[in-house]
Amino acid sequence: MSNLLSTEQQARAAKAYVLQELRKTDVGSSILAEEAFYGRLDMNFVTVFAIFAELYGYRHDCLDQLVDLMLMCGKSWMERDPELQKLDKARELDPEWYLSNQMLGGVCYVDRYAKNLDGIRAKIPYFQELGLTYLHLMPLFESPRPLNDGGYAVSSYRDVEPALGDIHQLKALATELRKAGISLVLDLVFNHTSNEHRWARKAAEGDQEHSAMYWIFPDRNVPSAFERSTREIFPDDHPGSFIQLPDGRYVWSTFYHFQWDLNYSNPTVFRAMAEEMLYLANIGVDFFRMDAVAFMWKQMNTDCENLPEVHKLLRAFNALCRIAAPSVLFKSEAIVHPDFVVQYIDRYECQLSYNPLQMALTWEALATRDASMLTQAIERRHNIARGCAWVNYVRSHDDIGWTFSDSDALELGKEGGNHRKFLNAFFVNRHPGSFARGVPFQDNPRTGDCRISGTTASLAGLESGQDGALERILLAYSVAMSTGGIPLIYLGDEVGQLNDYSYLNDPAKMDDSRWVNRPWYPEQRYNERHDPDTTAGRLFSGMKHLIQLRKTTEEIAGGRAIGFYTGNPAVLGYQRPGPHSNVLCLCNFSDDPQWVGRHRFMGMPPTAYDLVGGHDIELRSSGIQLRAHQYVWLRY
Ligand code: GLC
Repeated sequence: MSNLLSTEQQARAAKAYVLQELRKTDVGSSILAEEAFYGRLDMNFVTVFAIFAELYGYRHDCLDQLVDLMLMCGKSWMERDPELQKLDKARELDPEWYLSNQMLGGVCYVDRYAKNLDGIRAKIPYFQELGLTYLHLMPLFESPRPLNDGGYAVSSYRDVEPALGDIHQLKALATELRKAGISLVLDLVFNHTSNEHRWARKAAEGDQEHSAMYWIFPDRNVPSAFERSTREIFPDDHPGSFIQLPDGRYVWSTFYHFQWDLNYSNPTVFRAMAEEMLYLANIGVDFFRMDAVAFMWKQMNTDCENLPEVHKLLRAFNALCRIAAPSVLFKSEAIVHPDFVVQYIDRYECQLSYNPLQMALTWEALATRDASMLTQAIERRHNIARGCAWVNYVRSHDDIGWTFSDSDALELGKEGGNHRKFLNAFFVNRHPGSFARGVPFQDNPRTGDCRISGTTASLAGLESGQDGALERILLAYSVAMSTGGIPLIYLGDEVGQLNDYSYLNDPAKMDDSRWVNRPWYPEQRYNERHDPDTTAGRLFSGMKHLIQLRKTTEEIAGGRAIGFYTGNPAVLGYQRPGPHSNVLCLCNFSDDPQWVGRHRFMGMPPTAYDLVGGHDIELRSSGIQLRAHQYVWLRY
């Protein structure tokens, strides 16, 4: 492609070529005759082209690869279920549907929560009882046994793990969920495959074409050079970023030794993964959880995380979905420094993103009884592009990492390293008076790095039997439910599920403490959920109340929270302006009653209605007193 042409001219020329080539095929000519498809291709072609040319333009076959990609989109669209095409249209007319305050997410492992896909299907009435509109099923595709990183080592993106069911059952489940008003969320694990994936097996046999799909080197020279600047992610498994193959070569594996990083500098990988993505989109996936996005591109002398090319890849994948499966959206899983997290959030990249900072700082505030860092994060780190949404959660299937910015912390007088040490000690009960019962994850004495595993209930004090555990859980979930975007419940949290230490008896799990927070379905707790005399019952009714509040409070739909300075470090404040009225949320993170002085409410009406308590509250006469762990949502 000549450098003398502008990108636009190049794109035009490329499009003419691609269209001409497409028209030579049966699929191409019939699909281009479809106005809606042609329109979407027309709109998104430049994005795909520009990125493809930038990443792979040096290759003589770049344009032909683009023709193949567009043909792939065409075929995929033709095979898309008419019901899904109908949904595509409906969502095109209501593009911000996922910002509604009706949205409520849940996440679970298929086997641990319900044995198999049929079991999940049988739980749909419960999901409806809870009010879920979004269900993330943890990885359920074929993966190595017994080690598979909880399914994040995928051996085939088209085959369900046989113990869970098959691809037809998955498709049927997606349909059932859709009918029940619940979107299906599945992981797109596209940074790596398992070492048992067909591509990896061929690579291991020495096949050159497949070896080129991974980062494989004949000796330690290049790997060692890369490792001078990369981080160790799972040091308990192996040091550095590479592992050695039986034939002496080295392969990049950021996570476990059986997860091999794909080489996206090879366009074959891009195409192959795009094909897997579109296949899954046609199963009826509504949101892809884009797993471990930070690591997808490697560049010598960098830390190989969050590189600009990662964003290009995500945008290109996103554009392919816009063409072939337009209602499908992306959620980024970037559990990294907040400066980098936001870079993934964009209408044209990932419309949703986990909010790891808010999650971690909610725990930080509970431990310190001081909400200053959380307040600062809401003021400074919460704002994201219009039409995008945070996924706010209290905990996930993973560990909790203290991903806050050191300079943010320093402004509040906290030295990052020491504060992380304190938090780690607090959450693994090595701090006097701690209510938490967490377990260290990837404790790396060499670097001082450590993260925390544990269920919400165990981290909040239910396991240690300390006062205020239920209140802490509800307080944490009240923040997730009201700060904007989609709240996500780790299913089992709503009935107070505790840590499960049985992983210590399983050799395939004992070295990965995250299994402590991936327990089996707590049958008894669920049976007790309507009994107010039980812990599960009290918590469940509190959670149901929060959910009902969320669903009837239009101010907290989508968007973002705006900081409100309470003047009391123990009390978090944020506002949610709505179309007709506003809601001010105040949350007391202390174990004691706290005041917010009346002067804080100057300029507000004299009284406001507390949606949580269901009564009016005087604001300006004497200020507000909050009980320990109390939260109020004040409409005015
Ligand atoms: C993501 C998953 C985590 C997994 C890792 C590697 O971070 O959440 O569970 O270990 O990716 O796939």
